[in-house]
Amino acid sequence: MRSHNWPSASALALALATARVATAQNVTTINPSSTYGTWEGWGTSLAWWAKAFGNQAALADIFFTLDTTTYNGYTLPGLGLNVVRYNAGASSKNADPDGDVMVVSPDITASRQMDLFWLDWTSSAANSSSWSWTVDANQRNMLALGLDRGVTVVEMFSNSPPWWMTYNLNPSGSTDGSSDNLESWNYDQHAIYLATIAAYAKENWGVTFASVEAFNEPSADYWVGPTGTQEGCHFDVSTMSSVIPYLRSELNSRGLTGTIISASDEETYDIAITTFGEYTSAALADIGRINVHGYEYGGGRRDILYADVHAAGKALWNSEYGEGDATGAELASNLILDFVWLHPTAWVYWQVLDVTGWGLIEADNNALTTGAPSQKYFVLAQFTRHIRPGMTILDGGSGWTVAAYDASTETLVIVAVNTGAAQYLNFDLSSFAKAGVNGALVPRWATQIGSSGDQYVSFSDTFINGTQFWSYFDENVIMSFEVSNVVL
Ligand SMILES: *[C@@H]1O[C@H](CO)[C@@H](O)[C@H](O)[C@H]1NC(C)=O
Ligand SMILES: *[C@@H]1O[C@H](CO)[C@@H](O)[C@H](O)[C@H]1NC(C)=O
Ligand SMILES: *[C@@H]1O[C@H](CO)[C@@H](O)[C@H](O)[C@H]1NC(C)=O
Repeated sequence: MRSHNWPSASALALALATARVATAQNVTTINPSSTYGTWEGWGTSLAWWAKAFGNQAALADIFFTLDTTTYNGYTLPGLGLNVVRYNAGASSKNADPDGDVMVVSPDITASRQMDLFWLDWTSSAANSSSWSWTVDANQRNMLALGLDRGVTVVEMFSNSPPWWMTYNLNPSGSTDGSSDNLESWNYDQHAIYLATIAAYAKENWGVTFASVEAFNEPSADYWVGPTGTQEGCHFDVSTMSSVIPYLRSELNSRGLTGTIISASDEETYDIAITTFGEYTSAALADIGRINVHGYEYGGGRRDILYADVHAAGKALWNSEYGEGDATGAELASNLILDFVWLHPTAWVYWQVLDVTGWGLIEADNNALTTGAPSQKYFVLAQFTRHIRPGMTILDGGSGWTVAAYDASTETLVIVAVNTGAAQYLNFDLSSFAKAGVNGALVPRWATQIGSSGDQYVSFSDTFINGTQFWSYFDENVIMSFEVSNVVL
């Protein structure tokens, strides 16, 4: 069912009877004086899906441009992601100089073993035979395809140190999962590994990493090598605090002083708060950005993490989010919670291609098959196509509204979701110095949250009225609006 909007002809009678009442009932006042920083962008981690499908340029068109692309018979508005996280792998098949080989968890699929560049400890020189730069071709290819399109920010992340730096030679984690797996004599080696990739990439791939992250959900106790299904590694916070200064120093010695260190990609907001409080001051000084994952969904003290990180003058990203709800309801709800309470300056979906529910487009990394986009794809498009890098994030005034302002074009972007019964939602811009032009069109786009319905459909039926506008939302509809001629 298509959404409708007063004062379109079909709704005029109803609107005359109810619009003013509706206007009074549910209105959000966008606040131009409260800003939450400059938006750096939207992204995805590469890793598994890019290892599987990194040779498909059409996927790069879909995820890294705003163009319309036809894929598997579906017409997709590009998501325009500009952030990618490149996964520095930990797995290789060669024997080390002692004759040992990687220990492989029986439950990990080959599609989740990410290629290792540094094959053995004989030499740390990138041009020596201890290194192979021909591996990981598909993930590197998707990175290159992204950079040829809209990608502007690249982060490197590591799920585990190289297998031969770990106590049990298993890049899926230590034997009990709750103890460190990086050998204590290899703290600097892990830093050398990541810094060497960054330096090599700058010279040979034309990639300057904006940031490097040495850990992934490091406080977790579920990176259990013998039963692991992916690369992973526990680090105590004291170990993180030892590795981080090595990483800073190894980046600096390669001329990468502008590449910041991000940490620690903890699973939840609450764990991130604890970890943040336990870094040594030396480690904290070397951290440029706090990365946190969004796996606490509707829970956790986003507000405390923001306050702590903001007070320390660090940037903050939600660097990994994912779940299995294909309707987009969970994504919309948790993403808006992030805007209202966490105030990240970038937001990164985990795997844009993945199993049904988790993937924005369903895919099987083992069978190498891809299928349909989910409604969640279009729900995310409502955000990524309108809130663009460089915009200022504003206080949307309610728990169902996100607002961003583009000073260069004097455009106000609003994304709003209706979780209640069908109703008018009203947007009050009276606090702005200029609230658009009375009577001017406010283009809008709508997606039905659910298992079917509108998928990013555009409408030209909404107009500024004085210093506000309103739109009729069916239940569980998310909309984006672009208001021109707005001055803060
Ligand atoms: C590797 O690079 C170093 C420093 O640029 C150089 O001295 C050395 O000869 C190179 N080695 C090889 C095997 O190319
Ligand atoms: C206004 O609409 C939002 C979004 O659906 C809803 O969460 C909220 O409860 C509504 N408030 C009122 C007062 O109706
Ligand atoms: C604003 O809304 C009122 C009804 O509430 C209507 O009479 C008026 O024509 C509208 N103005 C514009 C510019 O659409």
